[in-house]
Amino acid sequence: MIISDYLAQADALAQDCRALLDGLEPGTRLDVAKGQLNALKDQRLEALQAALRMLPAEDRRTAGTAFNALKSSIQDALDGFAARVAAQGAGAPFDGSMPARLPWRGSLHPVTLVIDEICDIFRELGFTVALGPEAETEWYNFGALNFPPDHPAMELHDTLYLGDDTLLRTHTSPVQVRTLQRFAPPVRVLAPGQVYRRDFFDATHAPAFMQLEGLAVDEGVSFVDLKATLAEFARRFYGATRRVRFGPSYFPFVEPGAQMDVEVDPGDGKGLRWVEILGCGMVHPNVLEAAGVDSERFTGWAFGMGPARIAMSRYGVNDIRTLYDSDVRFLEQFVR
Ligand code: DAH
Repeated sequence: MIISDYLAQADALAQDCRALLDGLEPGTRLDVAKGQLNALKDQRLEALQAALRMLPAEDRRTAGTAFNALKSSIQDALDGFAARVAAQGAGAPFDGSMPARLPWRGSLHPVTLVIDEICDIFRELGFTVALGPEAETEWYNFGALNFPPDHPAMELHDTLYLGDDTLLRTHTSPVQVRTLQRFAPPVRVLAPGQVYRRDFFDATHAPAFMQLEGLAVDEGVSFVDLKATLAEFARRFYGATRRVRFGPSYFPFVEPGAQMDVEVDPGDGKGLRWVEILGCGMVHPNVLEAAGVDSERFTGWAFGMGPARIAMSRYGVNDIRTLYDSDVRFLEQFVR
């Protein structure tokens, strides 16, 4: 080979490499481009390296310089291509007018939503919120509420005892007594809180759940006030056209005792039906006396309801455990 041929071949290879890289599709990956480049150049580059030794001695220096220039020009072409790929990977230029990704928002638990709403309604009806301890004495939980000493609810299989005389309250009714001990009538309070029972955790029972207690005590308070107030509550909570009904029921701390049912459609396809949403009644004189209130002068009414049950009927939940699963797919439906 003569030197002019050698230089011409080196030049041609450099041009072919550049043409190959310039001609690739804009989206071509770097490794794919390298593969095609190697296929084009490797053999020709090796041949040029071998040819160096065949050249006359006086031409070898010129040819060697050309060979090195060829290699670096190929490398430069490849670097240029890699830079173009990287610039594309950075994506479209920054656009400050694009809407931001929505932040992940938490929500109040459906039972909390129901409690808040009920408290709001009763606040408008003149009630304030009162709280009591979750660890109670037997007297507040049972005795002061006119339970006879051997009442079955006090048995170990229903009540979680913490000690001889202390237990986890089985209902929020003890807050009635605690409130009347602290505040003289007229009293109108609402007591939401956690209560505990030795129940299995199944579709309709939870061993710990919320209750909402209500109490109104004053001179001349009658069953009419109870019915009017609770029916008004149901109209505001469920809607003005919703029907409610009262029926007789028994709780040791009220006389007479009643329950209020509301006609609701739980959304299970079976349509409207009566659902008991609360127990209520006129506060038993023994309860007033136990709390130090003159039962000759004052009368009162009370109610207790389960906000989880109410949330279930309102949102069409048929297994109470759904409320406590912490499944985000369920909970995020309540984001407002
Ligand atoms: N404490 C009752 C229970 O846990 C509910 C209840 C019924 C509360 C009637 C009341 C009431 O204040 O008057 O089942």
